[in-house]
Amino acid sequence: MSFPWWRDAVVYEIYVRSFADASGDGVGDLAGIRERLPYLSRLGVDAIWLTPFYPSPMADGGYDVADYRGVDPLFGTLADFEALVADAHELGLKVIVDIVPNHSSSAHPWFQEALRGVGRDRYIFRDSEGGLPPNNWQSTFGGPAWTRVADGQWYLHLFAPGQPDFNWRNPVIHEEFLDILRFWLDRGVDGFRIDVAMGLYKAEDLPDVEDQSFMSRSPIWGQPEVHEVYRQWRKVLESYPGERMAVGEVWTDSAEDLARYVRPDELHQSFNFAWLQAPWSAEAFRKVIADTLATVPFATWVLSNHDVVRHRTRYETADPGTGLSRAKAALLTMLALPGSAYLYQGEELGLPEVKDIPDHARQDPVFFQSKGRLPGRDGCRVPLPWTSTGASLGFSPDGVRPWLPQPKVFAELSAERQSGDPDSTLEFYRRALACGRELLKSLPYTLEWLDSPEGALFFTRGPLICAINCGMDEVRLPPYERVLMASGPVDGDRLPPDTATWLQAS
Ligand code: NOJ
Repeated sequence: MSFPWWRDAVVYEIYVRSFADASGDGVGDLAGIRERLPYLSRLGVDAIWLTPFYPSPMADGGYDVADYRGVDPLFGTLADFEALVADAHELGLKVIVDIVPNHSSSAHPWFQEALRGVGRDRYIFRDSEGGLPPNNWQSTFGGPAWTRVADGQWYLHLFAPGQPDFNWRNPVIHEEFLDILRFWLDRGVDGFRIDVAMGLYKAEDLPDVEDQSFMSRSPIWGQPEVHEVYRQWRKVLESYPGERMAVGEVWTDSAEDLARYVRPDELHQSFNFAWLQAPWSAEAFRKVIADTLATVPFATWVLSNHDVVRHRTRYETADPGTGLSRAKAALLTMLALPGSAYLYQGEELGLPEVKDIPDHARQDPVFFQSKGRLPGRDGCRVPLPWTSTGASLGFSPDGVRPWLPQPKVFAELSAERQSGDPDSTLEFYRRALACGRELLKSLPYTLEWLDSPEGALFFTRGPLICAINCGMDEVRLPPYERVLMASGPVDGDRLPPDTATWLQAS
């Protein structure tokens, strides 16, 4: 039986601004990605997901889109995009692009018209008394979710003021996005990553939020009407040849809520943030895995992305020095699970979060909107080190400084330095992905738990046993035939702490 490509794909997220800069302006671009496609093919991933590259004032790194059908000159041209898709396909890599339907940029022509008083019902404008915002909603980035315009009305922005929310109760918005989907599908994209997919609709009268901690009872997120949007989108995707797909960025309180977005006539996948939020604990991992497999038809697993602290650093916070071993062990576990895995650029190099970016160099609106209270997300967005020398470690052409400063440690972790070194994180990722491709794609889409010692988690998928030890002491492995992969030393039947292994069952 054959399954759609995305069911067990390994997808590599490219944060376009920080992957590779071919033009020499210090910012990553499409031509830079194109040059590095052979690296990705050799890494062994199945698909790439590109973060927004559309014309944008970059109030939120491109998640503020001014033109949904173009390429920002910072990143190249539409011809560069088409060439990138063609080359990726040539190498057998699928291409997923980001679609941002909850909000546009304030530079979008529709919002500019709205400011002039034309077509305000494409956005969410309201009057309010007493100089106060129309309700108590807070922006995800900090501060009120409302900004007042010159004539006294207020508009809603769940993120930065430069990201006004669309009014999805207006049918024009539906038509526009169906057309945008077709525009990119016509250019050969294999799928979409949907930004803030549980946003879009807001409760009709925009009531105050009573309890910020419950997304499920929120007037802001997860309104039932949003599902009809994805039903329409699914039809468009299915009207194209090939297995075009959509993966939603859906933050929910529970796996049950998440499951509603991936009903058979809605999105194909949604990110599983519960996995990313789980602490380094066998018990926590087991719960997330069990809940996910019980509730969604096609699971996804993600450890890092451009919005969160890199997992190497997250895992290290409680126990210094353990981050890299744990990150490698988590990768093996993630790849062994049924479903698809989303990797974030640089994790294959074992990059840590960069915590010491000076304030004057920071770019993320989270830092500014929280008035410096929160560091923001720049620390996981630092441009990749391709080589160990030069002003940008091979990210930009010689002599050019990248848009965010790279720390010294990146030189030691460069792709050049690691490539060919069997003990490097990069070669470990290459081996794991190659071995996974051979072994895992043919396995049944099921998992069985084995009795596991305290602190560890053992499960089987067909003839494969995966074991991870999150505890403080070594544990005894179940009987096995041979070791297929290991993230650290496996000695006979002993699995050390912070280590995972794939074993062939006896
Ligand atoms: C989620 C994106 O991943 C994030 O980077 C962005 O800031 C928000 N959505 C708003 O678009």
